[in-house]
Amino acid sequence: MPARLFLSSGDLVADRRFEFARDLQLKGDLTAAADLLSQATELAPGFASAWFTLGEIREQLGEREAAIAAFLKALIADPEDRHGASLHLVLLGAQELSAMPQAYVRALFDQYAPKFETALVDDLGYRGPALLFKAVLAARLAVRKPAFFKRAIDLGCGTGLAATAFASEVDHFIGIDLSPRMIEQARLTGVYAELEIADMVQGLRDKPDASADLVLAADAMVYLSDLTPLLREVNRVLVSGGLLAFTVETHDGEGIILGEGLRYAHSPGHVRASIRDAGLALAGCEDLSARNEDNTPVPGLVVVAAKT
Ligand SMILES: C[S@@+](CC[C@H](N)C(=O)[O-])C[C@H]1O[C@@H](n2cnc3c(N)ncnc32)[C@H](O)[C@@H]1O
Repeated sequence: MPARLFLSSGDLVADRRFEFARDLQLKGDLTAAADLLSQATELAPGFASAWFTLGEIREQLGEREAAIAAFLKALIADPEDRHGASLHLVLLGAQELSAMPQAYVRALFDQYAPKFETALVDDLGYRGPALLFKAVLAARLAVRKPAFFKRAIDLGCGTGLAATAFASEVDHFIGIDLSPRMIEQARLTGVYAELEIADMVQGLRDKPDASADLVLAADAMVYLSDLTPLLREVNRVLVSGGLLAFTVETHDGEGIILGEGLRYAHSPGHVRASIRDAGLALAGCEDLSARNEDNTPVPGLVVVAAKT
C-alpha cells in the first residue's frame, strides 16, 4: 500500500501527538491512540489527518456515530478531501454514493506512483492490460479487421502498463491521468505521443469528434461511479467502428456500490445498460478478474464496446 497521506497541522505538539497516536494504532492500542488524537484535534481543530485517523479508529472500534463525526470534521478541515473521508461516510451509510473526490485520487496515486507496478503486478497479480489486449484482438477478429489503431487514448493511464501492452498495434498514444506522479512514470515508458494531467472525462471533452480509433481504460473505471458521462464522450470521440475496451469490478447486486477497498463495483446489468444508453454497441463482455485481493481473484468484467 502507498505511504499514508499526512497533512501537517502547523502545530508541532499536535503533529507529535499524531505520530504517537499512529504508533499506538499500528500496535493495536486503539483506545489510547484515539485519546491522543482527540488531544491533537483540541490543540489544532483544523487538523484533517488527525480527524481522519480518529474516524478510522472509531470505525475499527465499532463506534459508528463517533466515526461519522470525526470524518465530517476531516471534511470540514480539508474540503478537497485528500484523505477520502467522504468515501468512509458512504461506507458508514451517512452519505449517498457520490463521485470519488479528485484530490483523493490524485493524492493516493501520487504516493503510490514509485511503487505502483511492483505493488500491482507482483503483489496483486494485475493482468488488466493482457486481458484487454486479448479482448480487443478477439473483437477485431470477429469483424475481420486488423487490430491496428492509428490513434488511441489510454484513460487513467497510470504508469503506462496498458499502453505498453498495445504499443506495437498503435501509432499515436495519448495518456490521460489525474496524478502528476503517475504521468511522470508513464513518460519514462516512451510509449505515449501525448500525456495529459486531467480528469478522464474532462480530458475526453477536449478531444475532437471522431478522433480516436481505440479507447482503453484498464482498472480505471473502478474510480468512477457514474459511467454514463464518460461513455457518452467516448462515443463522440471514437471513429465509426472504433473500440472502447475496459475492465471493471463487479458484484451480484444491482447498480453501483462502493466496496470496502474504496473502489466502485458495477453490476453487469448496469454496465450493459450504460453502454447502450451512451449509444455504443457491446462487442464483448466476459467475467474475468483483473487482479487479486488476499490471493483471491476480485470479480470483474472485461468489456469491449464499438461505435457503430
Ligand atoms: C489502478 S491505476 C491503473 C493504471 C493503468 N491503467 C494500468 O492499467 O496500470 C488507476 C489510475 O487511474 C487514475 N484515475 C483514477 N480516476 C481518474 C480520473 N477521474 N481521471 C483520470 N485518471 C484517473 C489514477 O490516477 C491511476 O493512475
